[in-house]
Amino acid sequence: MDARNEMLRLIRSRREGFSLEQPFYTDPDFFKLDMELIWYRDWLFVGHDCEISKPGNFFTVQVGDYPVVLVRDREGKIRAFHNSCRHRGSRVCTTQKGLSARLVCPYHQWTYDLDGKLLFARQMAEGFKHDDYGLKPVACERAGGYIFICLADQPTDFVPFRAMMEPYFLPHHLTEAKVAFESTIVEKGNWKLVWENNRECYHCAGNHPELCKTFPEAPVATGVNGADNDPEMLAHWAKCEAAGLPSRFRIDDAGQYRATRAPLLRDAVSYTMSGKPAVARKLAPRVSVDRIGTLLLYHYPTTWNHVLGDHAVTFRVLPISTTETAVTTKWLVHKDAVEGTDYDLAELTHVWTETNDQDRRIVEENAFGIKSPAYEPGPYSEEHEGGVAQFLEWYAGFIEPRLVEGQQPALRNVA
Ligand code: FES
Ligand SMILES: [Fe+2]
Repeated sequence: MDARNEMLRLIRSRREGFSLEQPFYTDPDFFKLDMELIWYRDWLFVGHDCEISKPGNFFTVQVGDYPVVLVRDREGKIRAFHNSCRHRGSRVCTTQKGLSARLVCPYHQWTYDLDGKLLFARQMAEGFKHDDYGLKPVACERAGGYIFICLADQPTDFVPFRAMMEPYFLPHHLTEAKVAFESTIVEKGNWKLVWENNRECYHCAGNHPELCKTFPEAPVATGVNGADNDPEMLAHWAKCEAAGLPSRFRIDDAGQYRATRAPLLRDAVSYTMSGKPAVARKLAPRVSVDRIGTLLLYHYPTTWNHVLGDHAVTFRVLPISTTETAVTTKWLVHKDAVEGTDYDLAELTHVWTETNDQDRRIVEENAFGIKSPAYEPGPYSEEHEGGVAQFLEWYAGFIEPRLVEGQQPALRNVA
């Protein structure tokens, strides 16, 4: 049986409320299907508008086999291109980020304009048509300071996500923030293990002493159920919404993205050891109310986020292989906040640097144990791990019809 049919069989026979069968976390053929059917088809968060604020600013990102470059053109528009030269395929932009008036391929110096048009190609035959060899575009959209790309030829509609997400994010002015610090760690585990770990705080009390000083482990904050009956959440939403900050829990029908605002513990306003602000200058002057807690957003499969009053922490997940996942964390502050005056970088980054490292170890131990021939799917805590079950429902619900699409007609009838 090929991997596609085996995956379909296991998706259809999976026990709800239990972790997945071993091959979903360990089998390279299953990983290829994840890439093809999810990562190469869905909208992916890649970075922030404020990282490429000037024309000619660019950053690169690798999604599976696809190198992509994001660039701000002369008109201020953000564009995405396949970072593969139309001459013989070399990567055009070879650094993580940069500033350049034109995109010049290092191999034979074919030169592209910021809108992807080929401007120069030395000594090509007469009749060579530059217009036929522009960089191939990648679908690119923006929402609330976030840049998303989609590698599919016919991307799904981005509008519903933007319509839901922007009201929560625009008041926080992330379009005008700056990245004070970023880190990328590689976790030796399948990308779904990284997400499963993120979608619950059942593990927090035992693993995250720093984060637990300020972030509530209650499933109403992390999960997807119960917040409507929680008096503390209701009071928090009412307070923040009265101050013009959308806060109420919302999730799309397919469960791919949700936003909600949760209070932090006690008097905490930020992810610091004291709970006090890490940045003296507020992220957005327009936010007049104090103790707004954390605005939480996830969008499968690439990002989860915390927006606080003084800074924001954003996360990007990118699979490297079946058993390796890159997690990039960015700390965003007001664009005029000055390091050493308005914030101390070590203090700003301490809690999530420690938390990320603790999560990395958790994911790696989980991956290690799942490799055992003795592993079998185990049950989730209904109280604490509703978010994990929901992540897997989304995964199964997205991938199953796409597996069916690709089947041979004869197999389709048997299935
Ligand atoms: S491969 Fe880019 S110029 Fe030759
Ligand atoms: Fe964690």
